[in-house]
Amino acid sequence: MEMQQDWKRMLLPYTQAVEELKVKFKSIRKEFIAMDEYSPIEFVTGRVKKISSILEKAEKKSIPLDQVEEKMEDIAGIRIMCQFVEDIYKVIDIIKARDRKDLIVIEERDYITNMKSSGYRSYHMIIKYPVQTGHGEKWIFAEIQIRTLAMNFWATIEHSLRYKYKQNMPGHIQERLNKAAEAAFLLDQEMAEIREEVLKCQESFQEESNLIGDIFSSIQAMGNTKNKKDMNEIYEIFWSLWEKGDMRQLKEFSKDLMRNG
Ligand code: GTP
Ligand code: MG
Repeated sequence: MEMQQDWKRMLLPYTQAVEELKVKFKSIRKEFIAMDEYSPIEFVTGRVKKISSILEKAEKKSIPLDQVEEKMEDIAGIRIMCQFVEDIYKVIDIIKARDRKDLIVIEERDYITNMKSSGYRSYHMIIKYPVQTGHGEKWIFAEIQIRTLAMNFWATIEHSLRYKYKQNMPGHIQERLNKAAEAAFLLDQEMAEIREEVLKCQESFQEESNLIGDIFSSIQAMGNTKNKKDMNEIYEIFWSLWEKGDMRQLKEFSKDLMRNG
């Protein structure tokens, strides 16, 4: 019982770090989207290593349990998914620009240039991150894995298979995994070729959906000040512009609403 409580106490700052880092990287995405720009971050996940996994890894790597915090770098883990390989390098730059501000970059492992023999690809950054606790500041390790959707797809499946088979992965499944790794690699290459096209489409879609969002919140905000007839008129104008699909006129309309609202 006491042992359990000790672990819980030890893991608290790691939970806090994961929550904070998730918020920070999600905010970067929100910032790009709000500015009608393409976001190099598609989505972010995070987890704190389970006690059972910590014990298992400590055993495997001969880490004494009282040195787990100094020697195990991935008790706190963040995963950042990107659409394109190029985006990964943008995210790396964003993180490096924060080095010695709200985190310290300790180590980088580039399994993209240097794919693992398993077929695993991702860019890892080990950081130190300051957590403000009730007992003052505590610096902890965290591991950030940055990868494309294709890399993530492969790694997720490989991980579950490896978990299932442990050391005894059947040859034909290993072979399939190697082929799948190759396919994921080719998909990333293919996507890089059409990146410019995809970006243009996504940005104009983003802009359009932000614009519609703006128009609707302007109209909603007017609800208190305008009568029903005026409101109907405004909706009519919106629908006719929307049906015409004229972005330029819709933008003008949105500006008018904001001015007169
Ligand atoms: P760990 O004992 O796993 O921490 O290995 P390590 O200290 O040598 O670090 P490494 O950078 O190799 O791996 C850290 C993390 O990357 C792992 O915990 C996994 O999340 C991921 N990873 C590394 N190799 C593989 C792999 O072959 N397949 C999958 N699915 N994930 C991997
Ligand atoms: Mg590791």
